[in-house]
Amino acid sequence: MPVCRICGGNLHEFFDFGRQPLSDAFPRPHETDDEFFFRLAVGVCESCSMVQLVEEVPRDRMFHHDYPYHSSGSTVMRSHFERTAQRFLERELTGPESFAVELGCNDGVMLRNIGKAGVRHLGVEPSGGVAQLARDNGVRVRVDFFEEATAADIRSTEGQADVIYAANTICHIPYLDSIFRGVDVLLKPGGVFVFEDPYLGDILERHSFDQIYDEHFYFFTATSVRAVARRFGFELVDVERLPVHGGEVRYWLARRGQRGPTPAVDALLAEERARDLGNPAAFADFARHVRKIRTDLTELLRTLRAEGKRVVGYGATAKSATVTNYCGIDRDLVSVVYDTTPAKQGRLMPGSHIPVRPGEEFAAARPDYAVLFAWNHADEIIARERSFRDAGGKWIMYVPRVRVI
Ligand code: SAH
Ligand code: TMP
Ligand code: ZN
Repeated sequence: MPVCRICGGNLHEFFDFGRQPLSDAFPRPHETDDEFFFRLAVGVCESCSMVQLVEEVPRDRMFHHDYPYHSSGSTVMRSHFERTAQRFLERELTGPESFAVELGCNDGVMLRNIGKAGVRHLGVEPSGGVAQLARDNGVRVRVDFFEEATAADIRSTEGQADVIYAANTICHIPYLDSIFRGVDVLLKPGGVFVFEDPYLGDILERHSFDQIYDEHFYFFTATSVRAVARRFGFELVDVERLPVHGGEVRYWLARRGQRGPTPAVDALLAEERARDLGNPAAFADFARHVRKIRTDLTELLRTLRAEGKRVVGYGATAKSATVTNYCGIDRDLVSVVYDTTPAKQGRLMPGSHIPVRPGEEFAAARPDYAVLFAWNHADEIIARERSFRDAGGKWIMYVPRVRVI
């Protein structure tokens, strides 16, 4: 029986995607022989309710100099993080000596706004390539994994922080004990630890199984976050539902006794109880939907191939690694995937080896159908690629169910 990474309780495995590659490892055409695979399976802890991967991939295999994900690739996300920075500047970073730390600052999409306001800050980002982009944006970055030792070192040279923030990063980190001890070291007594990640409630509701891949180790709820926070002396004091990335929650944590909880915390906890989010039946239902999506999507793609249609993919997302490899989609069914990230172009999709081409070539290629792997950016992409639909092109969506629009 596998055990919970948080509390050592029994982990009930509820879905096994089988052998999967690293979702952000895009091999060059001659590099396909030494791809790394692991068993992607997900379970729920029977004691503390934390949903998590059963197997852990060593962090240096995922986060290194060539990590290809650039946070600034979406205009919607750029403005989301600009608003986030504004909030911190107005509410938390008001003193003359204010100090903000961001874990996983990536290319500086959030911190550049803090830097521009002249407020002291530090990004902690282990992936050297994206960290350099952040520096080019005027952001101070330490190229490192955040953990307890890093936190102690930062505190000794920079002092304690008013805000420690992380977007789409805490769920990437199996060693949460070290993270919380690090936050405890680095955060001012009255400071806040704020993080936002894909919400389990939305994943189950939207059947967005492609949120499950190597980097996404934890799938949080208010219930599970409050439980883990309490183990380390923190209290969940506010929650916000966010529409980005297919549904996320932003959790605000403070040291116990420092800030009172907002009504939103109790409301979300009550909603999770009413939905019985930790119940095995909810996961069994999710599993049924995921299998149906696989059947429907592969049937649709095979039919289109038989009809001689040209089908491509849009967005070489980390999520798409799970979709293509779990569903057995190769370049026979989806000939090419378009993506605007230079570091992914000219490479092959992990495991499926579908070639990745520059996003700018999509419109001129005039395919008949495009699988929208970046469905979380649907509004932005469908609006920009208006000419595709005008010319009769159709988008294939697969969550919450397979449909053509
Ligand atoms: N915050 C950005 C980036 C998310 S991608 C956004 O929301 O778009 C996750 C980032 O976390 C990657 O850039 C990765 O290098 C970084 N990361 C992984 N482990 C980390 C750790 N222990 N400490 C700090 N950053 C980490
Ligand atoms: P994400 O879903 O993890 O944010 O990844 C989005 C991927 O899609 C990333 O590789 C960039 C790519 N992309 C495009 O190709 N065009 C776009 O318009 C947007 C918003 C993203
Ligand atoms: Zn547990």
